[in-house]
Amino acid sequence: DNNILTDKFNREHTYLRISLTERCNLRCTYCMPADGVVLSPKSHIMNFEEIYDIARLFVKHGVSKIRITGGEPLVRKDADIILKKLASLQVELAITTNAVNVERHIDTLKACNIRKINVSLDSLNPEKFNTVTRRNYFEKVYNNILLLIKEGFDVKMNTVLIKDFNDDEITDFINLTRLHDICVRFIEFMPFDGNKWDISKMVSYKNIMDRVYTTFKADEVIRLKDAPNDTSKNYAIEGYKGSFAIISSVTNPFCDSCNRLRLTANGKMKNCLFSSTETDLLTPLREGKSIESTIQKHVLAKYKMRGGMETLEKLKNPKLHTKNRNMTTIGG
Ligand code: GTP
Ligand code: 5AD
Ligand code: SF4
Repeated sequence: DNNILTDKFNREHTYLRISLTERCNLRCTYCMPADGVVLSPKSHIMNFEEIYDIARLFVKHGVSKIRITGGEPLVRKDADIILKKLASLQVELAITTNAVNVERHIDTLKACNIRKINVSLDSLNPEKFNTVTRRNYFEKVYNNILLLIKEGFDVKMNTVLIKDFNDDEITDFINLTRLHDICVRFIEFMPFDGNKWDISKMVSYKNIMDRVYTTFKADEVIRLKDAPNDTSKNYAIEGYKGSFAIISSVTNPFCDSCNRLRLTANGKMKNCLFSSTETDLLTPLREGKSIESTIQKHVLAKYKMRGGMETLEKLKNPKLHTKNRNMTTIGG
């Protein structure tokens, strides 16, 4: 196979995540430090034509799904223009947002045929939500999520579990799926630069399922079929409209079937969420050079697992971590 998006382990990369901006209107503790995050100057951020040109090239080489991320993608002033441009490509478009301002973009999301919207919500308790996000938008976010459901979008909720902070809400979150056709996804807390990760703060897949089985009877808990290349292990409670899932990148990584590549807001290609190496696509693009061989080289440099942090032992020890970015400038 000489597809430029196939790596050494024969993984075909058909899914591109594009970060539109490093900025965010929340300050989630597990994502970024309270202050001191240095952002790229505006001139280093891709403009909408550059995003479109790079995206088109990836689509030409086999990308069939693009997920838009941030920071918070919708804080970018020209977000609607970018979405509309990308919607003209032969590709499935999706977005991950914190939902703070999503009500202003409903028409654009519909016009772009975006069905899959992933939203972050880490607590159903307003005070806790405001603590973790360091802002006061609980009501707005919660109402916007209800609005997205009402408008018929395919909504997945992302909940990063932190031990002794929100792990007591697992049942409350699952109960949301009784009447709402959404998927609530519990995410194992992952290490990134500046987020003070420690394995003891992580709630594992196993811990989560133990909790589920103390609340629900074993025969009410249905293991659903996972979509190919899915990040999550999917479940539902018998008779409930929605479903729930676990994203266990720490204890149970899905790297063998990884089909993802990333493009950061400042035009760097990143072959893995945990990779330390990045390849600049924006500078050569601005110089009018062809970037296909650069892309291929970067894909071939992709590690088998977790950016080289293959073992849990290595992952557990922050001293052994390869240099990465803040999650806010990766986009998840
Ligand atoms: P789908 O397109 O619906 O599969 O979305 P998703 O689950 O990939 O994306 P989302 O942006 O909602 O991210 C949910 C969680 O999955 C976040 O914690 C991401 O960091 C994590 N995640 C997304 N992609 C990857 C990946 O390639 N590797 C790992 N390890 N985690 C990922
Ligand atoms: N560990 C796991 N998930 C994270 N996210 C952000 N930071 C982390 C982290 N340290 C998730 C958020 C967001 C998604 C894009 O990434 O839940 O919804
Ligand atoms: Fe892919 Fe890296 Fe995530 Fe593994 S850790 S699934 S290789 S992006």
